[in-house]
Amino acid sequence: MTAPWRATVLTLFPEMFPGPLGVSLAGKALTSGLWALEARDIRDSATDRHRSVDDTPAGGGPGMVLRADVLAAAIDAADDASRDRPRLLMSPRGRPLTQSLVTELAAGRGPLIVCGRFEGVDQRVIDARNLQEVSIGDYVLSGGEIAAMALVDACVRLLPGVMGKQASGEDESFSEGLLEYPQFTRPQEFEGRGIPEILTSGDHAKVAAWRRAEAETLTRTRRPDLWAARPGQKATKSTTDG
Ligand SMILES: C[S@@+](CC[C@H](N)C(=O)[O-])C[C@H]1O[C@@H](n2cnc3c(N)ncnc32)[C@H](O)[C@@H]1O
Repeated sequence: MTAPWRATVLTLFPEMFPGPLGVSLAGKALTSGLWALEARDIRDSATDRHRSVDDTPAGGGPGMVLRADVLAAAIDAADDASRDRPRLLMSPRGRPLTQSLVTELAAGRGPLIVCGRFEGVDQRVIDARNLQEVSIGDYVLSGGEIAAMALVDACVRLLPGVMGKQASGEDESFSEGLLEYPQFTRPQEFEGRGIPEILTSGDHAKVAAWRRAEAETLTRTRRPDLWAARPGQKATKSTTDG
C-alpha cells in the first residue's frame, strides 16, 4: 500500500470494513488512494484447531475475555516496525476521543487499532504491546468496530486533499474550543422562518462577528465544560456548587 496515511484495524469481524468508510468523502478518498485501510482478522492468529480467541475471565464472572497470546500475535503480524505508528485499543475506559486527538492522529502515519469484543481484552497484552486506550463516549458498545470507524472517519476528513475546501475544517465545531454557529441556506423563507438578516447583508466582517458571538453563546450554554476549558478562560463558579 502506498497511501501515506494508513489505518490498520484488528478485528474479529473484518467484513464490517470499510462499511460506512467506503462511501461519501472517506470512500472517495479511499478509492483515490489518499488513505489506505487494512482490516485484519484477529482469528487468523489463533493456534488451536477451533481457532479460539477468547477464554473465561480469571477470578470468575460473566462473559469471555480476548486472549493475550492470540491478540499479541495478531498485533505483531500486523505491525510494520519501520513505521512509527500509534497502537490504539478502542475501550470505554480510555482517553476520550477529542478533535485535538483526531488532529494529532491525522498528522501522523495512521494508527493500528485493536477492536475489543466480549468483556474486553487481557490486561497483559495492553501493557506488553503498549496499547493506548481510546473511548468514543461514556456508553458501552458491543464491540470496538463502530468506535474505530468513528475515529478513522474523523481523521480521514482532515487528510490533505480529502475535504473539497480545506477551510471548511478550520471553521468547524471544536476547532477553537467552540461549537459551530448555526448554518442556513436557501430557501430564504422556510415555514415562516427567515434567515438572520446579517447573513445576507454581504458585510463579511459583520457576518464573522455574528458567527463568533453565536458560537460563543452556544458553547457557553450547551457545553460549559468546553467553555471553561478554553485558553485564557477562568472557570466560573457554578451556582449549584454551594
Ligand atoms: C462490551 S464492550 C466491553 C465493555 C467492558 N466490559 C467494560 O465494562 O468496560 C466490548 C468492546 O467494545 C468496545 N467498546 C465498547 N464501548 C466503547 C466505547 N465507548 N469506546 C470505545 N470502544 C468501546 C471495546 O473495544 C470493548 O472491548
